[in-house]
Amino acid sequence: MGLHPIVLDTDPGVDDALAIIYALNHLDLQVHAITTVCGNIGVDQATINTQIVLSLLDCVVPLAMGQNQPIYYPLQTAPHVHGLDGLGNVSVQFESLEEQVVKKSAVELILDFVAKFPDQLRLVCIGPLTNIAQAILANSPLMRRTKEIILMGGAFEQRGNVTTSAEFNIYVDPHAAKIVLESGVPITILSLDLTHQVILSADRLHQATLCSNAPWRDFTWSITQPCMRFHQHQEGFHGMYLHDPLAVGYLLRPDLFKTVPAEVRVETSSSSTRGMTVANLHQQPMTPNAQICVAVKVEQFLNHFLQTLLDLP
Ligand code: RIB
Ligand code: CA
Repeated sequence: MGLHPIVLDTDPGVDDALAIIYALNHLDLQVHAITTVCGNIGVDQATINTQIVLSLLDCVVPLAMGQNQPIYYPLQTAPHVHGLDGLGNVSVQFESLEEQVVKKSAVELILDFVAKFPDQLRLVCIGPLTNIAQAILANSPLMRRTKEIILMGGAFEQRGNVTTSAEFNIYVDPHAAKIVLESGVPITILSLDLTHQVILSADRLHQATLCSNAPWRDFTWSITQPCMRFHQHQEGFHGMYLHDPLAVGYLLRPDLFKTVPAEVRVETSSSSTRGMTVANLHQQPMTPNAQICVAVKVEQFLNHFLQTLLDLP
């Protein structure tokens, strides 16, 4: 029985898929449910991709499909990074268990588990925050019984990865991010300022897969290749950022991370700075509404991540 009960909200997405394996493979986490959201790919395919991962791990976890559109802006996906299917263009090679998907919506499942584990359940959010915002709009008093929202998103001193000012998860649905940031739920943010400190190189992953007997080792290699080639062309390194696995890693090994309190706001309406996140760390009066992860012990995280991901000895 895991130490930390969580629900994982995700838009798989290659780094999401690695985060899901990382979370399901660690005994300290009790993943009570996975909810999918539109983001890297449409929510239907995101749900199929999640089923593929669950089938590979032979895991049965309640899986609910979430929102298929952001609250206001039309959906913008990321096929150039994650492939046309959101899973490195390899999803057709794998089966997915239809029976995994529950009849409830993601919002219903999130509310069910917050109610079942009041003040104990954490939401680990590694895609746009649309499902979380809709759950808050549906039942704000109940959602305030969430122990913590750990979210991958935003960019403060780093430039964005969609526009110069906005990171993808926040850019796709800034209105949802605003609702979450103003919800009163304790929030920990892993922004690009943190996730850009951690690169998994193709060589490092290849070496790790050679040492692994995990049935999903070839899958982890195959799905990451288009994403790694994208970074080789765009940023000059043959590898990928571990955005979403870091959100899981923060929960598993908080000793490897440093956080600071901040008052975080998000731009929702400007066409030029939509999705921009701004953190007030010092200027008074400052009412903190989030903890921001500002540093991580990179090598120790990478070792922990790869050992857990690939069942390394
Ligand atoms: O900006 C990185 C984030 O956007 C990650 O969650 C990635 O999966 C994409 O959703
Ligand atoms: Ca994601």
